[in-house]
Amino acid sequence: MNASEPCPPLHRLRFDDPGPPRRTTLADGTRAWLLTRYADVYQVLDDTRFRRSPPRGSNAPLPIASNLANNPDALPRQEGAEHLRLRHLFQRMLNPRAVGHMESWVVDAIDQVLDELVERGSPADLVDGFTNPLPIMVVSRLLDIPDVNEEQLLRWAAHALADTTRDIAEVADATRELAEFTADIVARRRRTPGEDLVSVVVEAADRDGSVPERQLIALVNLLVVGGHHTTSTMLGNILLFLLAERPQDWARLGADETAADALTERLLHLIPVGDPQRPRPLYATEDAEICGVTIRSGDIVMADRLTASHDPEAFPAPFSDLFAPLENPTLAFGAGPHYCPGAWLARTELRHGLHRLAARLPGLHLTAPPNATEWRSGSITRSPLHLPATW
Ligand code: HEM
Repeated sequence: MNASEPCPPLHRLRFDDPGPPRRTTLADGTRAWLLTRYADVYQVLDDTRFRRSPPRGSNAPLPIASNLANNPDALPRQEGAEHLRLRHLFQRMLNPRAVGHMESWVVDAIDQVLDELVERGSPADLVDGFTNPLPIMVVSRLLDIPDVNEEQLLRWAAHALADTTRDIAEVADATRELAEFTADIVARRRRTPGEDLVSVVVEAADRDGSVPERQLIALVNLLVVGGHHTTSTMLGNILLFLLAERPQDWARLGADETAADALTERLLHLIPVGDPQRPRPLYATEDAEICGVTIRSGDIVMADRLTASHDPEAFPAPFSDLFAPLENPTLAFGAGPHYCPGAWLARTELRHGLHRLAARLPGLHLTAPPNATEWRSGSITRSPLHLPATW
């Protein structure tokens, strides 16, 4: 990655050309393989010979920040049958068919947020008025937590996905508060089940009988945070790009739903939700061949999704052609067994949200240049703190 500005908008990041697997040395001196080509990254993410937990007794590198996804009980850290069992607790609630049934209330939520935005009038901050409230409204309905405090939810998410710059005691406090909140909902759903996602997870876990309570709480924590934070981060970064750099595409986005689908998929793919960082290490459990190179059992592999997403062999269309259908499945939601289970819901919110915002406010434009953007920092994700706009 290289960028001339200290904190550039994420759509301005540029990546080195991908190449064959190569040896690299991590900051702590550990030797690893770095994969940057789309085909190689996809292959290892989808290959169960590459695991996420270091083999017992190894001196493999630890995760960089102590955040929610690095909690040993969290879904992203599970493997094999244990991982599948946890995903089965909730996957049918978020698969494409289930999300198809949610589409009408997601659109209602978008219209409600837009009504409130328009009623408050121009000028407005699109972060306060759109990119934060929409995903929060959706996750509140999904988990049936209508009275959740928006500020609190934002704080928990920022700390749950903390980077190494945050105060450890503050991260611990926010993590404990989130876990208490989650434990309370879990207890309430056990007493009085409903039809929401938490009720389904709790009922399935109790029926299974072998899911440790701490794993159940870690899973619900992740759904509370993952259910809104990444979608709002993505919305903020996409709006900054479209409104600042592509005003000519705004009218087509609002007029043509099919074009909005293609545009959303390409922007999801092209604009990262955070700065490039050391990828999560994967550990080879057997010898495996990647692009003609033999990776030995025990080797550490770093799969660089961001560079791979810009691999011209897999994605030949130029950056400028935003409405061209994506040539290969995006890595924005990962790949393989840990593929983001919220991908279909996120896509639904993004494509309807962007399309309806552009249709409702065709004259929307930012009132500050992208270089003046203040950024939300301290997390592994980054997005504008404000998007001041008029229409
Ligand atoms: C634009 C929005 C989103 C993006 C870009 C995104 C991206 C990702 C990525 C890259 C992963 C990691 C895949 C891996 O470990 O290889 C992931 C995992 C996950 N996401 Fe999302 N996500 C989004 C929205 C959501 C939503 C809306 C939910 C919940 C409703 C969600 C829940 C999860 C969960 C539970 C995991 C862990 C899966 C596992 O380890 O098996 N995400 N997401």
